[in-house]
Amino acid sequence: MVNSKPKVTLSAAITLDGKIGQKNKQIVLSSKSDKIRVHKLRSKSDAILVGKNTVQQDDPLLTVRYTKGKNPIRIILDSHGTIKNNSKIIKTCKRVPTMVVVSELVSKSNLNRLQKLPIDVIVCGKTQVNITKLLTILSKKGIKNVLLEGGGTLNRSFLKKNLIDEMVIALTPYVLGSENTVSLFEGISFPSLKMKLPLKLKTVKKSSNEIILNYKI
Ligand SMILES: NC(=O)c1ccc[n+]([C@@H]2O[C@H](COP(=O)([O-])OP(=O)(O)OC[C@H]3O[C@@H](n4cnc5c(N)ncnc54)[C@H](OP(=O)(O)O)[C@@H]3O)[C@@H](O)[C@H]2O)c1
Repeated sequence: MVNSKPKVTLSAAITLDGKIGQKNKQIVLSSKSDKIRVHKLRSKSDAILVGKNTVQQDDPLLTVRYTKGKNPIRIILDSHGTIKNNSKIIKTCKRVPTMVVVSELVSKSNLNRLQKLPIDVIVCGKTQVNITKLLTILSKKGIKNVLLEGGGTLNRSFLKKNLIDEMVIALTPYVLGSENTVSLFEGISFPSLKMKLPLKLKTVKKSSNEIILNYKI
């Protein structure tokens, strides 16, 4: 029997004050050794999933480069299908499997543009991508494990719907403060500590100047 949803592992590098980035400015929190660790994690995943803002702001490749291994399918959640043709993701979509997931709000012109590219275009959700439905679709496509690489808004959606099975968090020796920064879980505050994570701390590893925290259900 096919599992109804793939395993979802959230991977992020955070500052000591729980931030993952700055608004409208690309910053690098991970050291070289941490990048190697993350790329090993990627190579063991069937898919990497990110939100539209992360692609817009960081223009990432989302491939395996710091170690040997296969590239997972890159999945971009972009309700309006606005990903640019000159983004690194689209420029490399001939050689790296890529999926763009849009909602029913996507304009005809964006949908046509995306459907002409060698990528898998999925329409899923009315106004925003329906992540619960999407995971069922991914499971039917044989995707068993997904690495959720942010950003904070997408992380929050997955947390709110209890769709995270594991978290691998690199605690980096930086602070960013609260102005114009993005938290690990971004958006409206959770009403109370009742929104506690059903996760258990399994391992804590020191790796050069970082601490890698691994939480599982
Ligand atoms: N340190 C790290 O490990 C790390 C990793 C990744 C990113 N980052 C940082 O995170 C920041 C970007 O994060 P962000 O919070 O601004 O944006 P994000 O999570 O990357 O993207 C959010 C966008 O994704 C789209 N989306 C589609 N379906 C969604 C759904 N069901 N739930 C949530 N979002 C959905 C929405 O735009 P539409 O409605 O238009 O579709 C939404 O605004 C950047 O600063 C980046 O550098 C850091």
